[in-house]
Amino acid sequence: MALKDVVNRHILDLRPYQPGKPIEELERELGITGSIKLASNESPLGPSPKAQAAIRAAVDGIHRYPDGASFALRENLAGRLAVGTDQLVFGAGADEILELLAKAFLGPGSEAVFAWPSFAMYPIVVKGMGATPVAVPLSNDLVHDLPALAAAVGERTKIVFVCNPNNPTGTSVGAAAFDRFAADLPPDVVLVVDEAYVEYVRRSDFPDSLGWVSRRPATIVLRTFSKIYGLAGLRLGYGVADVELAGYLERARHPFNVNRLAEVAALAALDDEGHAKASRRVNAEGVAYLTAELEALGIEVWPTDANFILARAGDWVHDALLREGIIVRPLASFGMANHIRISVGLPEENERLVKTLKRLRESGA
Ligand SMILES: Cc1ncc(COP(=O)(O)O)c(C=O)c1O
Repeated sequence: MALKDVVNRHILDLRPYQPGKPIEELERELGITGSIKLASNESPLGPSPKAQAAIRAAVDGIHRYPDGASFALRENLAGRLAVGTDQLVFGAGADEILELLAKAFLGPGSEAVFAWPSFAMYPIVVKGMGATPVAVPLSNDLVHDLPALAAAVGERTKIVFVCNPNNPTGTSVGAAAFDRFAADLPPDVVLVVDEAYVEYVRRSDFPDSLGWVSRRPATIVLRTFSKIYGLAGLRLGYGVADVELAGYLERARHPFNVNRLAEVAALAALDDEGHAKASRRVNAEGVAYLTAELEALGIEVWPTDANFILARAGDWVHDALLREGIIVRPLASFGMANHIRISVGLPEENERLVKTLKRLRESGA
């Protein structure tokens, strides 16, 4: 019998997550240097110098297993968020929390509902457990259609994912719509509010998701250190949930899933409020600049509450930019042909993108 006859059917059918193209790969393929990557929504400012110093200081200790309970980080975050220490679950990125949720609540015969296009890991973790993904199209203005999402919840639904702000569109839902949705959701359906980009949000009526964690126990809010804190390479994310829900995820996780360097770096990053503020400012300025320049070029863009911008641009634009050493994210695999997602970079990176687009246009490419 061949291995493919033995592997779980739902794993055989899975298509792996496609990450943004790494700079090294592009440069190897094209024989170029000096490329920039505006494709994975990473922080262009990099990690806080304080986080870097904390990592260096902790390197001597990496022959020891990490603190499996992430005690120091747990205490610190619980204080900041005004939740109990037993309401926090840490993972190797928010990605791992998504996996833990799938492992704890999904299996063959169950369903998970999410909007589409949205974060590509939702269908992957759902299918990875042999459960059925139910993808509900975004509204015409590319915002979560919460009434349609609610209507898709059925007997078999165990989890609903709401990505707010939504990746890859940058759009967000406000408190009024979210509150109606959360209040009406059956109480035994786990509501996952994925707030990977929450620190960049500008709208003032953003939902109080943590309030819902205390009002509606089957609710979990996901956050990450990969974005504004610039620690994507260390892999650290967390969930905030009711004690019971957090406890199930604790049972499902590996004992040492968060590494030592991630924990110390996160603690230092949380303390470096100036760096986080600077990241937010650089992002807001980048969003304003890119929005104005792209619109001036006749390229349609969507308002964003995150650190990336959705733009309508032919797939050739992505290919042409690649040849110029600029990596952006094509969205054809999300069912959005002729759209790209541009992560906001440093001012000089954003300017290089705009100049290159102008040049491509002038050369009639
Ligand atoms: C909406 C959303 N959720 C979760 C994640 C995963 O983040 P992490 O790096 O913490 O695994 C991402 C990463 O891009 C994301 O866009």
